[in-house]
Amino acid sequence: MAKTHSQFVCQQCGYTQAGWAGRCPNCGEWNSLVETTIEGKVQDSKSKNQSGKIYKLSEVKVSESQRVKTGEEELDNVLGGGLVPGMTVLVAGEPGIGKSTLLTQVALNMEKTKVLYVCGEESASQVALRVKRLMGKGEIWLFESTDADEIAAKIQAEKPGLVIIDSIQTLTTTDLTGGAGAVGQVRECAQRLTDVAKRMNIPLFLVGHVTKEGNIAGPRVLEHVVDTVLWFEGERSLSIRLVRAVKNRFGPTDEVGVFEMGEKGLTGVANPSQFFLAERVKNVPGSVVSVVMEGKRPMLAEIQALAVASLSPIPRRVATGVDFARLQMLVAVLTARAGLRLEGEDIFVNVTGGIRLADRGVDLAICLAIASAFLKKSLPGDVAAVGEIGLLGEVRTVQGLERRVREAKKLGYRVASAESGKSVAAAIKKLMA
Ligand code: TYD
Ligand code: MG
Repeated sequence: MAKTHSQFVCQQCGYTQAGWAGRCPNCGEWNSLVETTIEGKVQDSKSKNQSGKIYKLSEVKVSESQRVKTGEEELDNVLGGGLVPGMTVLVAGEPGIGKSTLLTQVALNMEKTKVLYVCGEESASQVALRVKRLMGKGEIWLFESTDADEIAAKIQAEKPGLVIIDSIQTLTTTDLTGGAGAVGQVRECAQRLTDVAKRMNIPLFLVGHVTKEGNIAGPRVLEHVVDTVLWFEGERSLSIRLVRAVKNRFGPTDEVGVFEMGEKGLTGVANPSQFFLAERVKNVPGSVVSVVMEGKRPMLAEIQALAVASLSPIPRRVATGVDFARLQMLVAVLTARAGLRLEGEDIFVNVTGGIRLADRGVDLAICLAIASAFLKKSLPGDVAAVGEIGLLGEVRTVQGLERRVREAKKLGYRVASAESGKSVAAAIKKLMA
């Protein structure tokens, strides 16, 4: 086996040198040098020889029945129907959001499968404590290790049916000098484990912590290595959690799974609309329901707004759950196109339940909520507002309207959209008469 050694490669220009530097001497980019192994990757010659098979298209078997269910229906849907043998799934999210909890539940659900749970972050007894809390009964094979090569060898020896690595940031390989969590280490360790999983046809979960900037250990290093990236979202102080597929080689990328974190772990929420509207107070100024699309799934959500005379020369605008720049734009449109004197108002907008909405279809509901709060007039309690707002103050149609209308109907709401008023001013007049 050739001796492995590492070099530092600039991710920007490809410049290579033996030692680390904060700035690339060639292109001047900061923090772009990443330790990378060169020559003689630790791969045994056997795997090299066998990698040469060529398939004819007609010989390639495509079978959906190969999918392995994780026992968490919401997760299976996001994956596209379950796990595919040899697939690598990165579960990314902020610390404390529930990644370990979800994967422990999966491990417990899969009773007939030998699940190897590699705890690099916690001790085996901490995982056992969590299992107790989840009232789990199944068996899990726990392995305390942070050495990627040792783990790879263990996988080859034990031949588990599923491997969970918690987390990839704690692993290192001795072939690189960088510490755990360094971009080079994270990428190399993930690559080695992915190779083993692929070769042995074992599904592999990698837990990845997200940094403050929203990256999974550096500039999205892992997204290329894995087949599927699941993003775990939610307010830690609230119970709702969304699991979103942002990359998926074996299924759709716009599916969203909804979970509720409780005393005994995560429970799938089959009807999120009902969940989000459970505590809604009807016929109060400042509350408007909208139907948003989370992937292909329509969901009803409540938008709340508050407008109060500001004491400051520059009034405050606070957005929770919606984009701040979007809120500023909508306030400007309301001022310029609907004649609402919002200049001196502090405006707060909040999506209840702690979810973040990126769908433009929520624009109309935000505008109506602000107008309703400002004018102190409530909307009919059964209206769900759907529509994008343009800079001219026009309400525009959004995709998936039919599905949104159907979902709204199920919960007794009727949709107010582009058809019912051509401009936001007209919609305000009509609904707040
Ligand atoms: P965890 O899965 O450890 O988060 P991560 O692996 O993403 O860092 O979840 C941690 C939080 O979840 C912690 O604050 C405790 C809470 N929790 C519950 O509320 N109920 C439960 O049943 C469990 C196991 C954890
Ligand atoms: Mg954890």
